Formats: sequence, C-alpha cells, structure tokens
Amino acid sequence: MIRIAAVGDVHLGEDARGRLRPALEELGDCADVLLLAGDLTRHGTVSEARVVADEFGGLPVPVVAVLGNHDHHDDKPHEVSAVLRDAGITVLEGDTTTIDVNGHTLGVAGVKGFGGGFAGKCGSAFGEPEMKAFIRHTTEIADSLRAALGRLDTDVKVALTHYAPVPDTLRGEPPEIYPFLGSYLLGEAIDANNTHLAVHGHAHFGNEHGMTPGGVRVRNVAQPVIRSAYTVYCVEPAVVEV
Ligand SMILES: [Fe+2]
Ligand SMILES: [Fe+2]
Repeated sequence: MIRIAAVGDVHLGEDARGRLRPALEELGDCADVLLLAGDLTRHGTVSEARVVADEFGGLPVPVVAVLGNHDHHDDKPHEVSAVLRDAGITVLEGDTTTIDVNGHTLGVAGVKGFGGGFAGKCGSAFGEPEMKAFIRHTTEIADSLRAALGRLDTDVKVALTHYAPVPDTLRGEPPEIYPFLGSYLLGEAIDANNTHLAVHGHAHFGNEHGMTPGGVRVRNVAQPVIRSAYTVYCVEPAVVEV
C-alpha cells in the first residue's frame, strides 16, 4: 500500500511563514509522499515562493508539486519553480517522477492543466485567434499529461494537476465558471493510461470526491475543500482505498 498525502491552494503569502510547518513535521508517520496541487503562492512572486520552500522543504517524505494559475501571476513560473527545486521539491510540468515505496514504484505525472470546460459544455478552437489560443493551451497541456502518464511504467500511476479533469469535484462552484476550472481533455488523458488516482486543486468551493468517465478516482484537495493541512489516500496497485 502506498500512502499519498495531498493538498493544494495553500496560497502562501509573505506573512504565512511557519503557518503550515507544525502540521507537516509528523508527515512521515502517515504518508509516503506529499503532492502539492498548485496555487502554492498568492501572486506567484519569488519571495512568496521562498515561503513555500521553507514550509515544504526538508520534509521526511518526497514532495512533488505542480504550479497553479496564481503561481503564474507574476510571470515568473520558472523562477518560482527554481526556488522550490532548490528546497528539494520536485516540480512537474509535462514530466514525471518515480518514487520507490516499500518495494513498489509510484509514478506521478504532473501538469498545471487549464480551462475549457467539460463534454457538451466546452469551448472549441473556433473563431477569434484568442479563442483558438485558449483551447490550444488546454489541448497542448492535456496532450503532455497523456504522454507523461504513458511513459510511466510503475506499479501505481497518479495524475497531479491544478485544474480539474472532471466536473464532479466542482459541485458547489457556480456552473457559469466551470469552463475556467478545468477541462474534460485532462480526464481523457487520465483515462487513456490506467491511472490509479487523479489529484487536483483550484476549485475552492467544489467538493473532494469525483470520478472520471473511465472510473479513475478524482480528488479535489484544495485546502478550502479538505479543510486540513493535507489529506491521505491509500493506494494499492490494483485498487484505490480512501
Ligand atoms: Fe486557488
Ligand atoms: Fe487556481
């Protein structure tokens, strides 16, 4: 069994140093890895990233992150990622990491994701160039998630995104903003690759539990949703238990 802790949307500002750390110190007792589902900062500044690095660096378990839209706001995603990596955090964007856990291998494929909406109520690459660019960004990211998951040859595969791959975990959000909260293309990428678990954030007013059309468990770990420092999912190579 592999124990996967996860949280997203901690939105740490410069005044938040030390806020989460006490709850993380005992993480090694209950989890084998910690996944961070983006929106780690408030505005994506390098100084905020240093706070994130101090909070999540040097923990007793590997920490794997994707960035969120807030982490892009200051137009320095590479600098933010570099600060996190300097603290030992693995930051994924279209790539993977593999972790050995008690004789099993855990593979994590991560992307930020993007919006676009869900089947029957989604945008399409039609009309103005701005609309085409919007959908192209989603399509390229979903393709990179699909390819990254496909490269994993591990006992357990987990998809880590910021944006949602299904609408199930958005219930509680206004339906009008669903197209800005995620894309069904992410869900299709997850379903195409025998994924065991999909973890995302971004939907602060959504709910925790959902499922892809192909039956993959989806969990919205936005901190306002899980209302704790993190939550832990226990995953077997063939079965997910929550
Ligand atoms: Fe957020
Ligand atoms: Fe977000």
